[in-house]
Amino acid sequence: MATEAAGLTTPPGGPVEDGHPQGAPPPLEVRGIRFAPALICAPMAGISHAPFRRLVADCGGCGGFFTEMLPARWLLSPNAIPSPAVIRRPHEGPVVYQVLVGDPELAAPVVRRLLPLEPAGIDLNCACPAPVARSAGAGGTLFGDRDRLARVLAAMRSAFPGLLSVKIRLGDAADGWEDRLLDRLRLFEDLGVDLVTLHPRFTGDRWNRRPRNEWYDVVAASTRLPIIASGNLVGPASLQAHPDHFRRVAGLMIGRMAAIQPWVFTAWGHPFDPPPALEVWDRFCAYVLEDYGPDQGLWRIKAWAPYYAQNFLFGHTLATIGRSARDLPTLIRRAREFLAADPVRVRHPSLDIEK
Ligand SMILES: Cc1cc2nc3c(=O)[nH]c(=O)nc-3n(C[C@H](O)[C@H](O)[C@H](O)COP(=O)(O)O)c2cc1C
Repeated sequence: MATEAAGLTTPPGGPVEDGHPQGAPPPLEVRGIRFAPALICAPMAGISHAPFRRLVADCGGCGGFFTEMLPARWLLSPNAIPSPAVIRRPHEGPVVYQVLVGDPELAAPVVRRLLPLEPAGIDLNCACPAPVARSAGAGGTLFGDRDRLARVLAAMRSAFPGLLSVKIRLGDAADGWEDRLLDRLRLFEDLGVDLVTLHPRFTGDRWNRRPRNEWYDVVAASTRLPIIASGNLVGPASLQAHPDHFRRVAGLMIGRMAAIQPWVFTAWGHPFDPPPALEVWDRFCAYVLEDYGPDQGLWRIKAWAPYYAQNFLFGHTLATIGRSARDLPTLIRRAREFLAADPVRVRHPSLDIEK
C-alpha cells in the first residue's frame, strides 16, 4: 500500500469533517459538538497549550482537543485570558477547556470566565493526583469527596448550557472502589454531565502500572454517558489484543503518543511516512515563540523535547540537550544540529519518557 506524508508542508489539514479515515473511530456527537473522528488529543499540563494544539491540527486527523488543566485560581487571575493556555486557532476544531476546581464557590465564576472564549465544552478534572490538585481539593481528591464533587458539578452545570464533561481515574484503590466508581457515574448522570473520559488507573497508580482496560467495558455498560478511553493508546494495535474491552467506548483519547508524534492522528490505522524531523521541531519552536515569547517559551520547548526525542534511536541525545541547555539559542542550535542529520528513527517509540 502506498504511504502518505504528513501535511506539514501543505496548508493545515484540520479535523476530518465527514466520515472518518480508515481505522479511526467513527465521529461522536455530544450536545451538538462533533468530534470527527472520535480521536481526541488529551489534556497534558505543560504540553497541550495553543502552540502544540496548532502543530497537531496542522498535521490533521485529530477530532478535537482538551486544553491542559486550568487551575481555578489562575483562571480567575487577570493574566489568564487571553494567554497561550486558552487561545485557539480555527483549524483546531472543537476545543474542550479543562478546569481544575475544588472549591464549589469558584465553580460558576470559573465557567463564566471561560464563556467569552465560546468553548466547545468544559471538562472538570476529577483525576489528577499531583500536589497542585490535592492542595486545592481538586482532581482525584475531589472525586473522593462525593458531596463537594456534587456541588462543584451542579454549579458548573447551571452556569454552562454546553457540553459538560468529566475526566476520571478509577478513584482510590481502597476497599469498595468499584461501588464508589459506579456511584460517581450515577451522580454524573443525575447532574447532567454529558461525557466521561476514563483513564483506568487508580489515583495513586504510577505510570508503569498497566491501565486496567477491562474497566472501559464495565463502566460503559453501567452508564448511558459516552465513555472516552485514555491510557497507553498509540495506534489501532493498542486495541487489538482485547477488542472486547473497547467495544462500547465512544472515542479514544491520545496523550503521550501525540506529544511524541503530533501526526499520530492522521497516521492512525494506515502506513504513513513521518514528516521531516527538523521541520516538525522548527514549527513547534516557532509556534511556541510566537505565542509565549523567549522567556516563557524556553521551558515549554524543554518540556516537549523529551517526548519528541522518543522517535529517535539516539533520542537521549536530544533529551539531554533539552535538559541541559541553559538558554534558548543553545537549545535551538544544538537540537537543530541533531535533527538536521536526519537521525535514525525507532519503529515503536516508548511511552516511558526520559526526563
Ligand atoms: C505530561 C502530562 C500531563 C498531563 N496533564 C493532564 C492534565 O492536565 N489533565 C488531565 O486530565 N490529565 C493529564 N494527563 C493525563 C493524560 O490526559 C492521559 O489521561 C494519560 O497520560 C494517559 O494517556 P496516554 O497514555 O495516552 O498518555 C497528563 C499526562 C501527562 C503525560
